Amino acid sequence: MTAKPTALTALPHDLKPDLLPRHIAVIMDGNGRWAKQRGLPRIMGHRRGVDTLKKLLRCCRDWGIGALTAYAFSTENWGRPIGEVDFLMTLFERVLRKELKEMMEEDVRIQFVGDLSALPDTLQREIDRAVADTQVNQGIRFSVATNYGGRQEILQACRAIADQVQQGHLAPHEIDESLFSRYLYTSNISDPDLLIRTSGEMRISNFLLWQLAYSEFYITDTLWPDFDQAEFHQALIAYQQRHRRFGKIENS
Ligand code: FPP
Repeated sequence: MTAKPTALTALPHDLKPDLLPRHIAVIMDGNGRWAKQRGLPRIMGHRRGVDTLKKLLRCCRDWGIGALTAYAFSTENWGRPIGEVDFLMTLFERVLRKELKEMMEEDVRIQFVGDLSALPDTLQREIDRAVADTQVNQGIRFSVATNYGGRQEILQACRAIADQVQQGHLAPHEIDESLFSRYLYTSNISDPDLLIRTSGEMRISNFLLWQLAYSEFYITDTLWPDFDQAEFHQALIAYQQRHRRFGKIENS
């Protein structure tokens, strides 16, 4: 299939292409507050949040960022009012159906991280289709964390590794960081270089607990639906000014 890609937005001149994060993770917080500030139901914030995510994905693609991972629904989010949970499940399904054509045109490879077995069957089918269809694409790797929890991810990795040990396929001394990472949902992507969190909360909320060990954090008071290209640009400027030491000391 050859489709016409949308025109690319050039990388701003004050960003260095060789210092861009390869993988960005984002906690899209503040949808409910955004809606409340406008006297709207919370779901309107989620709806607007999808537009923000679409724009960010396109911008990452245009600017040459290889991977974007978005926290769409946590293992704790089931505790929200049933109406909001139902709305979100239906929203994910509708967005996937509606955006598949565009993801193909824009060369996006989508994947989901989390325990998908608890999601509604109709959503699981839409996920399977989107993942299968976009696997041929070569562009940005877009991961959607859905029914995702960092602790739950680590536990499922431990169980799988213990199983391998029990069956005699693996010796305990062979379990190192590299092996452990291969049992995580994110085994095919590098750890995030940059985590962006909107709405000013200073926590990681059970997101990518293992993978964020050495990521740089950019936290902004902006609510997710208002997070735009100008602010993303600012986040990247801030990232490029950081000195990443990975626990070591700076080279003189
Ligand atoms: C957090 O804001 C946001 C969510 C729990 C849902 C985010 C989901 C989307 C933006 C849709 C993404 C869609 C696809 C298909 C990937 P909040 O409700 O916690 O806001 P609050 O803290 O102001 O209450």
